[in-house]
Amino acid sequence: NWTMEEFIGKEIARIREICGPKGRVIGAVSGGVDSSVAAKLMHEAIGDRFHAIMVDNGVLRLNEAAQVHEMLTEKLGVNLTVVDASELFLSRLKDVEDPEQKRKIIGNTFINVFEEQAAKIEAAAEKEEELAPSGERKGKIEWLLQGTLYPDVIESISFKGPSATIKTHHNVGGLLKDMKLKLIEPLRELFKDEVRVLGRLLGIPAPLVQRHPFPGPGLAIRILGPVTRDQVKILQQADNIYIEEIRNAGLYNQISQAFAVLLPIKAVGVMGDKRTYEQVIALRAVQSEDFMTADWFVFPPEVLRRISSRITNEVAGINRVTYDISSKPPATVEWL
Ligand code: XMP
Repeated sequence: NWTMEEFIGKEIARIREICGPKGRVIGAVSGGVDSSVAAKLMHEAIGDRFHAIMVDNGVLRLNEAAQVHEMLTEKLGVNLTVVDASELFLSRLKDVEDPEQKRKIIGNTFINVFEEQAAKIEAAAEKEEELAPSGERKGKIEWLLQGTLYPDVIESISFKGPSATIKTHHNVGGLLKDMKLKLIEPLRELFKDEVRVLGRLLGIPAPLVQRHPFPGPGLAIRILGPVTRDQVKILQQADNIYIEEIRNAGLYNQISQAFAVLLPIKAVGVMGDKRTYEQVIALRAVQSEDFMTADWFVFPPEVLRRISSRITNEVAGINRVTYDISSKPPATVEWL
């Protein structure tokens, strides 16, 4: 029996007590609901002693790094560094097709890039302190922010079912060990809908608070063949049109997750009086409570028609669009 306002006050006090007057915290942000809300809460509690890091892994959605940067720094005031590591990620992903291999490469590379950036922040902080008048040693980065929710806490304690290991979700165990950081998890008592309420109270704009989940490995698990810059670009454009039309139709909040998938096959089409031989986009949209099961979403036909015609007209390299009518199980939400 508590209100969210009380929760905010108590949590901010708790964070301040844990960190002390000088302690610094780092955390990764993705632009998703959980990490944004957690980052904003940390900023409210300790200001610029919270350092957010966003890693551009080259497989984000169209203009995503720039949008997240604008939202977090300009709108929410969070102390954020965006690291463009797309070259490194794409070079390590070269010629890789296996989904689990893609996940592992992205997870490991993320940790490498994050650690390197954290070390830079730490070095800059130390330098700042040397120049500080009081001469007191202070302000090491001691904490790592995690946007863990209550269901994740429960799952990691009690969930040992086979599906836990069906897909590898990347974790931060390595960071904690290598960097000797301690975890700070301000959302660990909350459910998703509570995080959204909290986000709104913290002044986070509605479109961000309502955002569909986006997987850590990003578009790499939505490109069914090898991941190249060209393939990423094609998928980004198609996905952007798809989501834009879903928003225009007022359907975004009725859908739990929607995204486009780029298939590694070519099909024949016709443009003017010429045959084309180009790739295929599959559209996915599901409704789900917890993503353990999911139903495919029934679109009004005219919305699908508009999406398909825009994608085939506007995205070079695509001449065919299909809609995925598979539920989970037996399919998964993602194609990889
Ligand atoms: P599946 O495809 O397993 O997806 O039915 C269920 C939910 O999990 C997301 N997902 C991931 N999220 N890293 C993530 O952070 C991953 O490797 C990953 N794989 C799947 C998926 O987007 C959906 O919301």
